[in-house]
Amino acid sequence: MKKIADVKALEVLDSRGNPTVCAQVTLNDGARGVAIAPSGASTGAYEAIELRDNDSTRFGGKGVKKAVENINGPIAKALIGLETVEQHIADSIMLELDGTENKENLGANSILAVSMALSRAAAESYKLPLFRYLGGISLRKMPVPMMNILNGGAHASNNVDIQEFMIVPKGAESFGEALRIGSEIYHCLGKILSERGMSTGVGDEGGFAPNISSDREALELICQSIQSAGYDEKTVSLALDVASSEWYQEDKYFMPKRGKYLNSGELIAIMEEYINDFPIISIEDPLSEDDWEGWCAITKRLGDRVRLVGDDLFVTNRRRLKKGIKLKAGNSILIKPNQIGTVSETLEVIELGRKNGYTPIISHRSGESEDTFIADLSVAVGAEFIKSGAPCRSERTSKYNRLIAIENSLIF
Ligand code: PGA
Ligand code: ZN
Repeated sequence: MKKIADVKALEVLDSRGNPTVCAQVTLNDGARGVAIAPSGASTGAYEAIELRDNDSTRFGGKGVKKAVENINGPIAKALIGLETVEQHIADSIMLELDGTENKENLGANSILAVSMALSRAAAESYKLPLFRYLGGISLRKMPVPMMNILNGGAHASNNVDIQEFMIVPKGAESFGEALRIGSEIYHCLGKILSERGMSTGVGDEGGFAPNISSDREALELICQSIQSAGYDEKTVSLALDVASSEWYQEDKYFMPKRGKYLNSGELIAIMEEYINDFPIISIEDPLSEDDWEGWCAITKRLGDRVRLVGDDLFVTNRRRLKKGIKLKAGNSILIKPNQIGTVSETLEVIELGRKNGYTPIISHRSGESEDTFIADLSVAVGAEFIKSGAPCRSERTSKYNRLIAIENSLIF
């Protein structure tokens, strides 16, 4: 009989140099899983709570000692000795122990780290790769990477309002091929920027953050880099993360870098212009997490032309996705396990989305680590896309490299 023998945690650093939670779960047969929780910057208002110490004498208040203590204390006490590795049983024990809707007592960072570490330990115990353990025998396909190569918004200090500009090599024949194409375009963009005397320093997700003057200029630069790498829109499409919840103030959108107020209708018209002029196949958070009316309007108007992806809108939350399904708001859902806090709830919301025609896009956070859980998750659920930043910086490429390994193990 499989049994949870030990649960432990440590405070480690994420890719921004901020503390985060690392958990380890050991089973009675010696199988062991380790996982690290990621952390967002442009977080949605309805996400599960990430517990931070707010003790200004350590890490500027960002320490996660309490979250770590929650694992070493009450979570360990509740899980050690459990005579099963069933994910949903262990996850519900943690949910019950926390007792809140948004996991504010134990912290979604501590619960998720344990939840993912348990999946890994169970996979090892069954001698299965994580994607196979999570996805079973009916594995479908490799995801297409959505690679963020240019940053604006809260992720950069330039004049670009949109947060992420991504390239999507959807015409590539394999994941490895898609990654090669992405890397070639990324380097062409770097070359174009440096020829123009612009900065080639990169933002949190590895994309460039040059000081350009507008969103449109960013789109033009990316199209040029696609061309100069020798590709066209049959092979490579674009995707945007507008992250517009950041702009929303009392029913209006304040575009901080344009210094302009817009209403939802005007913002939808801008999005329509962009998809008319550029090969955009997906727009994430074009409207705010509180603008359900705007979301319904954009879905009606553009939903049959592009994927309209709810990130801050749905926050990987079943209840919010159900509301979206009912209202016909959006047609895709971004999946970030730490927005909801357990592996089982993440799998449930993906299933709910799939049943209702919402494409799941598995996503990293802007604060990441060497943990590659989301790579395996994307294959396990047969996700069409994965978002893991630029083809640059190890916390981003670790996921892509894991997918290359998975792709090869599937072939051979
Ligand atoms: P975040 O950014 O991790 O800072 O929230 C990523 C995104 O908005 O998709
Ligand atoms: Zn987003």
